[in-house]
Amino acid sequence: VSLMKSQPSDINYYTASYTAPSNIAFIKYWGKKDRQIPLNASLSMTLNACHSFVSLKALPAKDEIKKIFDFQFENLPNTKFETRFENYLQSIQDILPWLSDYQFEIRTHNTFPHSTGIASSASAFAALAMGLADLDAKITGTEFSFNKASKLARLGSGSACRSLYPGMVIWGENIKMKASNEFALPVPIIHPLFENLCDSVLIVDNEEKSVKSSVGHSLMHGHLFKEVRLFQAQENFNHLFDAIIQGDLEYFGEIIELEALTLHALMMTSTPSYMLMRPNTILLIEKIKDYRQTSKLPVYFTLDAGPNIHLIYPAQYTEVIKSWIDAELLAYCQKGMVIHDSMGSGAKRAEH
Ligand code: DP6
Repeated sequence: VSLMKSQPSDINYYTASYTAPSNIAFIKYWGKKDRQIPLNASLSMTLNACHSFVSLKALPAKDEIKKIFDFQFENLPNTKFETRFENYLQSIQDILPWLSDYQFEIRTHNTFPHSTGIASSASAFAALAMGLADLDAKITGTEFSFNKASKLARLGSGSACRSLYPGMVIWGENIKMKASNEFALPVPIIHPLFENLCDSVLIVDNEEKSVKSSVGHSLMHGHLFKEVRLFQAQENFNHLFDAIIQGDLEYFGEIIELEALTLHALMMTSTPSYMLMRPNTILLIEKIKDYRQTSKLPVYFTLDAGPNIHLIYPAQYTEVIKSWIDAELLAYCQKGMVIHDSMGSGAKRAEH
């Protein structure tokens, strides 16, 4: 934040600009209740390459109704994103009461390669929430609170609350670590084997995804497998947490693949049902399993709520894995698209 004038009585406006990365979940958040409270604890890795930038300028409100008076995404007006941000700002006024006195100019853009089908809501809401928490501290004269920023991010998009922090991040009450359903926290110590994981995203289909995650989460209500899924999520969380601390890469791989396939199995068996894997998703999964068996390399896959494959492996194998991707996998990716990403360091203040 740059406080334009230091005397509160003279303050005309405040600004805050942040960038935040995307994240990939290893234990999936799938199903929520109340106000963005997850049904199970999740665990993710913060990424590095794919970022959103959000810059806020808060001015004293003239028009009480609209919170955003000027919005640009990638230097152009964008009604879809503006409406989502506007609704979000309206929905969090109980948490940031000063919001009713301000209106915003918002500029936002992504560093994502164009048309990859990669969702940007986690990175966008993480960056927006960091900006709001920063303004909150300045306007109310309090300390910046990461917990508050993460909570604000969660209210925009659940998985966004994890994107603030570096490395491995958890969100949700669990027996392994003192944690909360309200905000995320970084895993304090991880085994060196997990300190520099890579994520090469194989773009199988770059179309917009056919199920919105909010719709996906609601499918868990009344799902025949709900209780057994919640039990499994808890077990997987505990085992993955231990594997990350102890350095058990093989067990880690087994669990993240099970989580990815479970997420898709839940969608395939809900009413209505969704099939988000494409034929090439399955083909690539088979190739990954074969290659792992023959090469003995620790390379595993996970999936989001979409057809693209996230290939997870330690950085020391980058060269050999990249050559394998180029030689064997690119042919099954849309227009040969792959994004090489890796563990990142979370949200950062940016130049306005
Ligand atoms: C499959 O965070 O996008 O990526 O809270 O409705 O915005 P909303 O959902 P969102 O759901 C993410 C689901 C997931 C798994 C995960 O990231 O944990």
